[in-house]
Amino acid sequence: MLRSTLLAAARSQGVRRLVEANPLTKPVVQRFVAGTTPDDAVRVTRALRDQGMHVTLDHLGEDTLDAQQAAEIVRAYRRMLRVLADEGLADRAEVSVKLSAVGQFLPGDGEKIALDNARLVCEAAAEAGTTVTLDMEDHTTTDSTLGILRDLRVDFPWVGAVLQAYLRRTEQDCRDLATEGSRVRLCKGAYAEPASVAYQDKAEVDRSYVRCLKILMDGAGYPMVASHDPRMVAIAAELARRAGRDADSFEYQMLYGIRPEEQRRIAAEGGKLRVYVAYGDEWYGYFMRRLAERPANLVFFLRSLVTQ
Ligand code: FDA
Repeated sequence: MLRSTLLAAARSQGVRRLVEANPLTKPVVQRFVAGTTPDDAVRVTRALRDQGMHVTLDHLGEDTLDAQQAAEIVRAYRRMLRVLADEGLADRAEVSVKLSAVGQFLPGDGEKIALDNARLVCEAAAEAGTTVTLDMEDHTTTDSTLGILRDLRVDFPWVGAVLQAYLRRTEQDCRDLATEGSRVRLCKGAYAEPASVAYQDKAEVDRSYVRCLKILMDGAGYPMVASHDPRMVAIAAELARRAGRDADSFEYQMLYGIRPEEQRRIAAEGGKLRVYVAYGDEWYGYFMRRLAERPANLVFFLRSLVTQ
């Protein structure tokens, strides 16, 4: 109930204005978002690199309904990729892109615009010597996103995608994508979805996650285990061992600001750990999804508003 209310608020312009206008929100947002500028993102990337971790950078933005704004997000990604190359960080950091930020929802030929824009980001990533992963948004975009992934992989076979274990379709998507060279980031899923397409019960989502993980670990692709759940992390390690995988044939991924001690532990013990680092001004939707994932975050957020 609380989760669905927060996820509905994530899409409300009215609540957005209220939350963004409150200066006391900022310190709480900073727990999950690296900062607003590219310099902030580079500083955090360097610090994580120095602790033995890898990074994927998300230039915040989603649901863009303006072609100019979509083009500006593409330029921001391309600039960031050049900076990563210039700073010697491209072997440690890639980028994550939401197709809705680069035009997928534009009326008319949004899908084509998103494909062309994503291609521009991929070209810059290829020049920098790194990779791109497509984030997954709500279920109405899954077919479109996987279609764009297929097109991009013709020229850029290293482009990865996110699959969400809460969707009933995802086991089959895992089978389709568990192929040579395919990079799949498996997460549980962060949007409000109807029972017709998604498991609603947490235990069912977890069981689906394990089934999907097994398909990916047993397949020929490169699994990216995106979860902070200690059970999923332990099961991933065991499935990788049973599948005869080396430590560098899959990776763990977690979000910036969530279980950082666990991130350091995995990296220190020789696991490949990538931190998803979001930065930029458009933090609202991303921040609200983080609140929705854990009721304690909301309590912390509300308490910070009243005690400061
Ligand atoms: P679960 O929600 O069961 O949490 C397990 C434990 O982790 C909790 O008990 C708590 O300790 C900690 N935790 C989890 N979330 C927390 C939070 N917000 N604050 C504090 N602690 C928290 N989703 C999506 O729909 N599309 C996408 O493209 C992506 N991309 C993505 C990339 C990466 C690298 C990650 C790690 C996650 C995503 N997600 C996502 C989000 C994902 O779907 C999911 O909502 C969160 O990761 C939470 O699920 P867990 O697997 O961590 O388990």
